[in-house]
Amino acid sequence: MTVSPLGRDIDRVDGRAKVTGTARYSADYPPSDPTSKVAYAHLVTSTVARGSISAMDTMAAQNAPGVIRVYSPFNKLGLRLVPDAGENYAPLEDTQVRFRGQIIAMVVAESSRQAREAAKLITTTYDELPPRTSFAGEPRVPAAGPPGHPPPSATVLAPGVASIEAALAASDVVVEATFHQPIQHAVAMEPHAVLAEWNSDHTQLTLYSGAQLPHITALGAAIRLGVPPTAVRAITPYVGGGFGSRVIPWYDAALAAAAARQLHRPVRLVLAREQVFTVVGHRSMVDQTIRLGASRAGVLHAVSHVSDASMPFVGYWPMRPAVDTSAVLYKTPNLHFDERHVMLDLPPACAMRGPNEAPGAFALETAMDELAVATGIDPVELRLRNYATVAPGTDLRWSSKHLDDCYRIGARRFGWSARRAEPRSRVDGQWLVGMGMATAIYPGRRISDPVQVRVRLLDDDTALVSSATADLGTGATTLLAITGAHELGVPLRRVRSELGDTALPQGAPAVGSMATASTVPAVEAAVHAVVAELTRLAVTDPRSPWHGADSEELTYEKGQLRGKGRSMSFGRLLTTIGRRNVEATATAQPGPEANQYKFHSFGAHFCEVRVNRYTGEPRVTRFTTVVDIGRVVNAQAARSQIAGGVIFGIGHALLEDDPLELDTGRLAAGNMADYMVPVNADIPALDVHCLDRPDPVINSLGARGVGELGTVGSAAAVGNAIYNATGKRIRSLPITLDKLL
Ligand code: MOS
Repeated sequence: MTVSPLGRDIDRVDGRAKVTGTARYSADYPPSDPTSKVAYAHLVTSTVARGSISAMDTMAAQNAPGVIRVYSPFNKLGLRLVPDAGENYAPLEDTQVRFRGQIIAMVVAESSRQAREAAKLITTTYDELPPRTSFAGEPRVPAAGPPGHPPPSATVLAPGVASIEAALAASDVVVEATFHQPIQHAVAMEPHAVLAEWNSDHTQLTLYSGAQLPHITALGAAIRLGVPPTAVRAITPYVGGGFGSRVIPWYDAALAAAAARQLHRPVRLVLAREQVFTVVGHRSMVDQTIRLGASRAGVLHAVSHVSDASMPFVGYWPMRPAVDTSAVLYKTPNLHFDERHVMLDLPPACAMRGPNEAPGAFALETAMDELAVATGIDPVELRLRNYATVAPGTDLRWSSKHLDDCYRIGARRFGWSARRAEPRSRVDGQWLVGMGMATAIYPGRRISDPVQVRVRLLDDDTALVSSATADLGTGATTLLAITGAHELGVPLRRVRSELGDTALPQGAPAVGSMATASTVPAVEAAVHAVVAELTRLAVTDPRSPWHGADSEELTYEKGQLRGKGRSMSFGRLLTTIGRRNVEATATAQPGPEANQYKFHSFGAHFCEVRVNRYTGEPRVTRFTTVVDIGRVVNAQAARSQIAGGVIFGIGHALLEDDPLELDTGRLAAGNMADYMVPVNADIPALDVHCLDRPDPVINSLGARGVGELGTVGSAAAVGNAIYNATGKRIRSLPITLDKLL
């Protein structure tokens, strides 16, 4: 009997390759032609935030040992814009400086050290303008997203209610609070890197470059280079973290490819760690004001959520912190949100894990804790009293929602009943001990685009599942194998998988926590298709024992074709008919249900902190998260994703900050020495529990998204626990010890 791997604790199928160092990341690739010699590129970035380059002396660099070429606005590469992405400049194409850390030159040399050393010899003279950096001083503009995004401002009012102000004024209890979250960075472990390699007549380009959307990486480079999209192949089987920082095709790949085309050599470009902080997008800083109006019993009457997020003039991600938090999380008859941007001379912004939801939930879930204090109602009970079964202002129900059980089960696992509502009521030696909780919510939908998967059955009774999605460390490679084994009914060890290559059928983008839910139906469809093809061969091939039979007489189960009193494994049948393999590619796309329901994943976080009475040092000591993600595909990977998200949230709550220097436009902590992220000593053992209740709507398995959910609300749970420990409400992240003294 075959036991399906679905829902079990499955080790990564690529784990051995990763821990033994045989897995290749972008910078590890040698040229495909061993006789061709790689040239190494190094970037030079601007040291002012606004103005233009009046002169650049590249002579010393050009004459430095090993240097092949220096590219700059005075020796251009001819990159084009990607106007659909809202781009308004291409690097090295003009002398304008739009932010500090902008690419202004690229040195290509025989070795990476020579390129780096030569880059230091370039001197640049600027005509400097004062950068626009004042968050308070610049105007607010509506946070309009690309076409198809919901409006940035909306108001839902109950019949007879004149305005959100009137609704708040009519509430027994009003909580109003403003929250600040600084610029944050994904800080993926693998710095952004590329090896760009053309074929001899420059008709085909191969990019080895970490990507969340391999096809978009290829397409972005193709547009910038002025070649057809079919001319570019992106290869990215292993990615050292994405978190949103590998969604946009940044300029590194196109710059390396343009140089490789000119120099007739493969070019490798690896960003220096501090360059990752400006060449690659960050999460915008955001100020949010939440106003909650409620009855004395804590029942919400009005919710208002106004956000001002920084938006770089060079563009990209329009932060919208209310759309997937205040606009959907709680039942309220009156709702108002207004999402605005403040245009600044900053490096590009981008989506970062829970891009709207993490900052939105920090604000909303802290405000809910403040409402719990104001009404004297337990924070879990308060959330249950405002439980939404339809999103405010709509009659759309969720495909599946067990958030109430997340609260209850989480409270029990964590020991929430031991909490004392009164701050500073638990003291252990020099430590004040507190408990806090918060809600997690993240969209759990499938991508609306078609997703393709290919399944190949081989004559050795193994199968290969292929799809050009990406594995950012999330476990997508393992997921393909698990779902393939489950659908084929064969043991996991007989299924291999491959992804991260645009030569494969176009798979799900690894964004928006959508890859799993979007890929599962395509695996199912591809297995059906390949079994149909196998059956067709069985009845049409003269060498088959079923030759001439009606395909209706055959059934497939657990790797075996059966019918007319006999049974044969697919491998044996293929061997018998003299074929190495049979394959089929299938496409899956959501149906009408996509518009008939809302799809979210949910969770509840519970956190215990200890804050030192004398030093103010906050330590997270316990953390429990219970999530409703539909059916669990790989229990171990799902817990790991949630734990990773919680660690992210703890970092946001306590450590991460990149202050913007107002005079210079410099991000002051834009390097790994100054930008603090959690280390092992900052993180206790994390208790993560998945409800594992299949979603009856989203796909046949009932699996929704996981990846970003744990990030959402976890910072608020930490802050709420700190309030419970100390009585101090810190509304500005990170909550550092100086704020607690
Ligand atoms: Mo994610 S921030 O949708 O890459």
